[in-house]
Amino acid sequence: MSTLRHIAVVIALVAPFGVARAADGGNVVAPRLGKPMTAAEVTAWNRTIFPDGRGLPPGHGTAEEGRILYAEKCARCHGAHGEGATAEDLIGAPTPPTREDPNKTIGAYWPFATTIFDFISRSMPPAAPGSLSADETYAITAYLLAANNVISQDDDMNDKTLPKVEMPNRNGFIWIDVKKPK
Ligand code: HEC
Repeated sequence: MSTLRHIAVVIALVAPFGVARAADGGNVVAPRLGKPMTAAEVTAWNRTIFPDGRGLPPGHGTAEEGRILYAEKCARCHGAHGEGATAEDLIGAPTPPTREDPNKTIGAYWPFATTIFDFISRSMPPAAPGSLSADETYAITAYLLAANNVISQDDDMNDKTLPKVEMPNRNGFIWIDVKKPK
């Protein structure tokens, strides 16, 4: 590339910033990408649910309701019976995570039922994260917990019952620098 071309490319790259700078009296240093989030957008995005259940929305669901939703929205990647397909298995006999080759299913690995809800609510299904209603998320969580023999088939999951679920691997983690939740 000739030196002249080099100069032309540099001018073309710098020009938009020069325009923004001029438009704002010379104070602009950032390229003005994005826009501030509205309070409603922040609320919709901020869906953190803590291990002790703080942040759980109102609503409820059972395993039977969840079974139908799972088949519709999750089975494609996680397998018809949660045995895994393109994505990992979600249902299976608990195997000790201390094993050489641990199987990190819900029953064997997750220490809290509340954070399963959090994970599903914020990230699944991957093509439409955040699309499940609170009732749907409670139902799918109930289905996965019942299928892993953690709760019984008829247990209703809601913001009171979900934090009380005792996960099989509840005491399998080493807690560092944080107070162990009750
Ligand atoms: C398009 C494929 C796809 C669909 C559909 C999908 N998932 Fe997933 N799921 C994944 C992938 C890939 C991962 C691994 C993500 C990671 O490790 O960050 C995952 C991870 C998970 C995990 C964490 C696994 C673990 O135990 O560590 C859970 C729980 C889960 N999905 C639940 C669901 C539920 C519930 C649905 C339906 C509402 C669903 N997924 C739909 C692809 C999918």
